Amino acid sequence: MKVLVTGGCGFIGSHITDKLIEDGHEVMVVDDLTTGNKDNLNDAAAFTDCSINDSRFEEAVAEFKPEAIIHQAAQVSVPRSIEDPLKDEEINVRGSLSVIQAAQKHGVRKIVFASSAAVYGNPEYLPVDLAHPAKPLAPYGVSKLSVEKYLDMAHKLYGIDYTILRYGNVYGPRQDALGEGGVIAIFAEAFSKGQAPAIYGDGEQTRDFIYVEDVAAANVKALTSGHNQVLNVSSNEKITIKELFFLMNEISGNDFSPEYREERSGDIRESVLCNKETISALKWEPAVSLPKGLESTLDFYKKTTR
Ligand SMILES: NC(=O)c1ccc[n+]([C@@H]2O[C@H](COP(=O)([O-])OP(=O)(O)OC[C@H]3O[C@@H](n4cnc5c(N)ncnc54)[C@H](O)[C@@H]3O)[C@@H](O)[C@H]2O)c1
Repeated sequence: MKVLVTGGCGFIGSHITDKLIEDGHEVMVVDDLTTGNKDNLNDAAAFTDCSINDSRFEEAVAEFKPEAIIHQAAQVSVPRSIEDPLKDEEINVRGSLSVIQAAQKHGVRKIVFASSAAVYGNPEYLPVDLAHPAKPLAPYGVSKLSVEKYLDMAHKLYGIDYTILRYGNVYGPRQDALGEGGVIAIFAEAFSKGQAPAIYGDGEQTRDFIYVEDVAAANVKALTSGHNQVLNVSSNEKITIKELFFLMNEISGNDFSPEYREERSGDIRESVLCNKETISALKWEPAVSLPKGLESTLDFYKKTTR
């Protein structure tokens, strides 16, 4: 299948591109390299260096004629969306509308969209399933939720199929530990430098983590299944931040004791995302255990961190 991946030089998009190519698909990546890195790009993929907000994006779609678009490009930072909601809206809402419009004009049959657990806001019960209310706490979550609505509208108006994948906490090689990187990227960078990362709060906060290759596999499965569905992409297995610290400590061959800092305001205490519907809709399930995924992640940081 011909598949266009937006954001294919980023953390998750580059793993999706690798998986598509491994499975024999023809891929074009569109990325403006704001947070992405050309070194992540698979050599076998065609590449257009432009923004999804740029008119060149539609030209790329017209030229490549993809059957499907896997849409990952976004302003990905929650704090930045609070500081500059207009910028967030420009990329995440108008940029996504530009993807939908180009898809409609050029006969794209399916869009797979990277949404986020941020659309739910504070968990009212656990695990957070698809029936959980969507009450985003920041512009980032509002943008993701509005694109979900636009995709449903585009299906009804133009007949474009969609699958919305609400990712939980994704981790793995190529994740940026700077700025807004997830806790595993930050821990991995510190451990591979031989430093102890700090824990904010008492470390009893829970999260569930999903390995990036499992997220890539879910995206590829969604090309041919899960039509017009909203699905959570997660491991559904919770771990405390303290347990994560000791697991990574051990895998990286360190023997640190955690240093606790004051809890950050706005941190969610407990978070687990239910993946039951995803397993049956996509015939998918997480294949990489947390210890195995952490080993590959720490290996990556050891090779790339100075
Ligand atoms: N990482 C996570 O844990 C997580 C969780 C939930 C949802 N998501 C979503 O998954 C997707 C991928 O996130 P990621 O973690 O790989 O982030 P990332 O920053 O590594 O990747 C985003 C990519 O999009 C590109 N991009 C940004 N603006 C663009 C524009 N206007 N035009 C073209 N390209 C543009 C960037 O250069 C980058 O390569 C995003 O939509 C994000 O919101 C990520």
